[in-house]
Amino acid sequence: MKKLLFVGAEVMPFAATGGLGDVLGSLPQALAASGEVDVRVVLPLYAAVSEVWRKQMKQEAVFYVHLAWREQYCGVYSLKKDGVTYYFIDNEYYFKRPNLYGFFDDGERYAYFCMAVMELMHRLDYYPDILHAHDWQAALSVVYLNCIYRSRPSYGNIKTAFTIHNIEYQGCYDFAILGDVFSLGENEHSLMENDGCINLMKAAVECADRVTTVSPRYAEEIKTAEYAHGLDSCLNRNAHKLSGILNGIDYKYYDPKNDKAIAAGFGVRSLGGKIKNKLALQKETGLPEREDVPMLSVISRLASHKGLDLIAECIYDVVMNNDVQLVILGKGEGKYEQFFLNLQACFPNKVRALITYDRDLSKRIYAATDIFIMPSKSEPCGLSQMIASRYGAIPVVRETGGLYDSIKPFWMDGKTMNGNGFTFANYSSYELGDRIGAALELYRDKELCKKLVVKIMKTDFSWKVSAESYLALYNEMA
Ligand code: GLC
Repeated sequence: MKKLLFVGAEVMPFAATGGLGDVLGSLPQALAASGEVDVRVVLPLYAAVSEVWRKQMKQEAVFYVHLAWREQYCGVYSLKKDGVTYYFIDNEYYFKRPNLYGFFDDGERYAYFCMAVMELMHRLDYYPDILHAHDWQAALSVVYLNCIYRSRPSYGNIKTAFTIHNIEYQGCYDFAILGDVFSLGENEHSLMENDGCINLMKAAVECADRVTTVSPRYAEEIKTAEYAHGLDSCLNRNAHKLSGILNGIDYKYYDPKNDKAIAAGFGVRSLGGKIKNKLALQKETGLPEREDVPMLSVISRLASHKGLDLIAECIYDVVMNNDVQLVILGKGEGKYEQFFLNLQACFPNKVRALITYDRDLSKRIYAATDIFIMPSKSEPCGLSQMIASRYGAIPVVRETGGLYDSIKPFWMDGKTMNGNGFTFANYSSYELGDRIGAALELYRDKELCKKLVVKIMKTDFSWKVSAESYLALYNEMA
């Protein structure tokens, strides 16, 4: 059986802040379920990993990791869950902190983590056939394998894949710390360099046997200057090994029929449950309890690349001119938080701005939503449009990255229904407003709307298809 090791900075349900955590929490299980691969996942043992999990862990090894002049303690713990073995790298100095990231020494923390991953192989006498690293925090595992460990016994045949979940975050540092922090020398200077800086993501792209990203469209987009954040020439040079595989979502965790987090379960044959969820959310948030009013929602990090400028430009008119309710869930840039709070103050009977992040609350909102708004400027894959679909909310999205690949425009060809949402191409608030308007018009046609909702809920966004694409990739590599 092929041995596969995933390396990443966040994994659900242990420690996660975003989509990367979702994917690393569900793809390995889907791969393991195929019975074709032995899947293990390695991540840092953050303070956030709860006691519930810690109690189930077994200590596998204790050793020291050398990083330039440092000698750092490393404990390796393991835990088996759903057919996958998880390894946790323990070092309290680096990982016992209040958040996963955002510290002055993140470069050093993840350099240590990646070096520990290399050492772990030798200490546990476990050498994967394929090392699959995700995003910049794991990039150095690919680099250390190629530049430092390759010539050692048993490391010679390990193949590498590197996945870009978001090209905006590359891990860029000054060359002054190449030796002192990253433990690399002048021989690696050109490998590590992009635009005059150390660029960890770039180096992993150069070293890896295969590079993937999380949707076919994004794989094309990141070869252009508009999307690549400075890595376009690197990706064009490596285009022969680049491909895009659309993410899936965890169909067990996101299951409206059996979801304990929502007010009432529902499915395509019991859509009445969806109305109960709407009424429950209205009650919870103090909005007028009315089942006939269309419920719009935005569930997003409040960051500009999520397209919030477009929402800010058109949403006032939408709320002003229509009998609707709008719920926003998320936090982020202050100006957007303030904008939505102001909107709520203008329309206290129509708008709720929930400036927080709460997974269960997000599920209650998905379940209550009729029209889900996601007009991202760029979106490597996006999971929210898939979750919304599964919970029967009609997505209104901009045609970019994974949104383009997963949501196709709704239109009627005589009696035949095409598409699974409302989409627009240009980064324009006029187009967004227009598509929200079209979705509201459809909402008024009860029968047609129900037909579309059923179609959307039946669209397959599970890991099934994508896991097969990954297995095919691993087979090609081996
Ligand atoms: C990142 C991307 C998002 C993607 C997720 C999982 O968070 O921004 O689009 O869905 O990674 O791959």
